[in-house]
Amino acid sequence: MMLGVVLAASASYFSGSSASAAEVTFSAEFMNDPKNIAIGKGLFQKQCARCHGQRAYPGKAPKLKPEKYKADFVYRRITKGFRGMPGWKRRYNKLQRKSLTAYIMSKGFTN
Ligand code: HEC
Repeated sequence: MMLGVVLAASASYFSGSSASAAEVTFSAEFMNDPKNIAIGKGLFQKQCARCHGQRAYPGKAPKLKPEKYKADFVYRRITKGFRGMPGWKRRYNKLQRKSLTAYIMSKGFTN
């Protein structure tokens, strides 16, 4: 338990320059964990597909192109929103927003 706290603290300390980057880290272990991807997929289908999905009426939101994104960009958009994209910070906790990011960046993502 103590060790976990120390590791988490040093991981965020070394993770980078800006405040928002220091706030979250995306380890390969987290991003590849099927459990996190499944959580993200469920949330995406429930909340995001109505704008980003194939069945959303055309022009509602851009098709997501994960191959062009970095995880922290996706996380930032989800957290803070941007223009027509709502922010989800109050609706979803950090783990849920990170899981959404893991799903979008995963091989199985479709929109
Ligand atoms: C009300 C419709 C709507 C919903 C719901 C919505 N989005 Fe968006 N989203 C948008 C729009 C519109 C944009 C484009 C914003 C811009 O760049 O002007 C966007 C942009 C994004 C981007 C950045 C895409 C890029 O290439 O710049 C990501 C990532 C994203 N949304 C993820 C999500 C996730 C994850 C959810 C669910 C938690 C979600 N969105 C829910 C409308 C929506």
